[in-house]
Amino acid sequence: DPERMEKIVSLCKRRGFIFQSAEIYGGLNGCWDYGPLGAELKKNLKDYWWRRTVRERDDIEGLDGSILTHREVLTASGHVGGFSDPMCDDLLTKERLRADQIEPQTGVAYHYTGASYPDTDWSVERPYSVLIYPDQNQDENKARKIAKQYYSQFLKDQQLSPKKIQLAGETSEPVENTTRYNPATGSLVTEPREFNLMFKTQMGASSSEDDPNAVAYLRPETAQTIFVNFKNVLETTRQKLPFGIAQIGKAFRNEINPRNFTFRSREFEQMEIEFFCHPDDGLRLTDEWLEERIKFYGEIGIPREKLHILDVPDGERAHYSKKTYDIEYEFPFGIQELEGVAYRTDYDLGKHQDHAGKTMEYFDEQTKEKFIPHVVEPSAGCDRTVLAMICEAYDEETLTNEKGKEEKRTVMHFEPRIAPIKAAIFPLLKKSEEQVRIAREIEATLSPLMNVFYDESGAVGRRYRRQDEVGTPFCITVDFETLGDEGEELKDTVTIRHRDSMEQERVAISELPVWLIKRTR
Ligand code: GAP
Repeated sequence: DPERMEKIVSLCKRRGFIFQSAEIYGGLNGCWDYGPLGAELKKNLKDYWWRRTVRERDDIEGLDGSILTHREVLTASGHVGGFSDPMCDDLLTKERLRADQIEPQTGVAYHYTGASYPDTDWSVERPYSVLIYPDQNQDENKARKIAKQYYSQFLKDQQLSPKKIQLAGETSEPVENTTRYNPATGSLVTEPREFNLMFKTQMGASSSEDDPNAVAYLRPETAQTIFVNFKNVLETTRQKLPFGIAQIGKAFRNEINPRNFTFRSREFEQMEIEFFCHPDDGLRLTDEWLEERIKFYGEIGIPREKLHILDVPDGERAHYSKKTYDIEYEFPFGIQELEGVAYRTDYDLGKHQDHAGKTMEYFDEQTKEKFIPHVVEPSAGCDRTVLAMICEAYDEETLTNEKGKEEKRTVMHFEPRIAPIKAAIFPLLKKSEEQVRIAREIEATLSPLMNVFYDESGAVGRRYRRQDEVGTPFCITVDFETLGDEGEELKDTVTIRHRDSMEQERVAISELPVWLIKRTR
């Protein structure tokens, strides 16, 4: 639903959730800045993840590793050699495309730019001659028909007058200097080549471009810092298997096509757990972690029915993984991955043991067994989860007002524990000095405990709408009753209006901190 997505992106900008990075300079592709409300929302997510993962469990320790990464770490892990995506160039638009984003083809038109071929009478003098090779494994007649259609389309797109058409049944010779014609987009696309996604940098004052010792990388995943610190954490905490190390932090990938708002960015944050265990427990723990993570998404407002669990089949998993579940969410732009829960075996610790020549073995005191631990990795994207929370929360409602007229209400139904503003505080009348004084006092009491927002401008109805639009679960109004104007019973109480039901209730000022903490934790 592109329209829904557009509205969400526009609200994010208008209300200060997410801005394009360096917008005044035309934007930095694949990078995003979180505005005042986005920063709160993201922080709430990270804090809640940390609390559930590290604080409330005694079998997981926290880590905050460096972003700049030693090249040997990423050589051992395989990233230097193989962390790449297949990329194509579109010669007409000069755009770079991920090969998997190009429509599958049933026939291919090769456009010769150089070589002349002995079995044809075509050569460089005919720069727009086209040889069409049907894909192998195709019914030949059908393929020729399709190829012929592509060819006429190609001529039309290139505004060429038809020349000779030659269909070749198979590519017996190696074809060099060719481009691939994509009939879906009318583009000429080069053959895919591997493109390494890592950001490389130079370290130290004397570093020169060609000094391999000065090369460092921005980490492409937080995971590797955890693996290389496995022994440090084990020794300093005296944990026993199974136990985990958790980390939240930035990761960087030079994505070929950043897209879908923050979904695929070049700079993003991950929330990763590496849960180390005995080899016999790996598969069982992978299933248990999947359930644990699904529960977590429920707790931040992403319901089970909007999640899709993909049991990644053999052949499609990373080569080191024995089992992988992708946790996917129904974004407005399609069902896409939020998190991977992967059983990575002893691959990473084993690689670092070999490459660094340092043991990564664990000694089990009870069984006297010595082995390299296996690892289960729930790896979540922070920005993707924020985006999912925003998409899930966004709602447009039609209400009937007191005069019987229909009104539109835009409301973000954030789970209170992650909502950027927990409570808004209003004096009913800006002119009432007493109401303003009390409202300001409430603000001063609550602000060390949670993010609150004071607002005195405009009609209360308008103030409610502004808070609905950013998902504030509670609005507190100081009114005449608070001052005791309506009798002693309601003195020192305030109106609390609930965002979702729009119902109101009265709560004593002295009870506000506990009342709110209970409902927003
Ligand atoms: N350590 C394992 C690992 O990094 P991954 O599937 O490549 O696995 C894990 O990444 C999570 O990180 C993804 O599920 C996604 O949420 C997030 N992520 C990966 N690339 C991203 C990108 N370019 N932009 C935003 N989030 C990304």
